[in-house]
Amino acid sequence: MSFTKVCTVDELWEGEMAPFTVNDHEIVLVCADGGEISAFQGVCPHQDIPLVEGKFDGRVVMCRAHQWTFDAVSGDGVNPKDCRLARYPVKVEGETVLVSTEGVAALFAHT
Ligand code: FES
Repeated sequence: MSFTKVCTVDELWEGEMAPFTVNDHEIVLVCADGGEISAFQGVCPHQDIPLVEGKFDGRVVMCRAHQWTFDAVSGDGVNPKDCRLARYPVKVEGETVLVSTEGVAALFAHT
């Protein structure tokens, strides 16, 4: 699995999210409470709204359009539960955050 450098850890503070384009994938990096960094599809699975335009409280990402919420570590739907965000593998090497986009595609819900 190959990883691409996305940013450094000091560009993403705990409780923040930020958008990046990695190998033509629109992703959002989130740094949850406790410092775990996760990478998800950058658009909402409901209607293609950029998640970074929503809110993040350190635990849950909320889309601005219809307030769907997602767990900031697993990407699982919190409300509604029958959806989730595609999750990209992340690794942190020293100060560098790397993401693998191989075989990952954005998910879209039917509701
Ligand atoms: Fe995100 Fe509807 S577009 S909740």
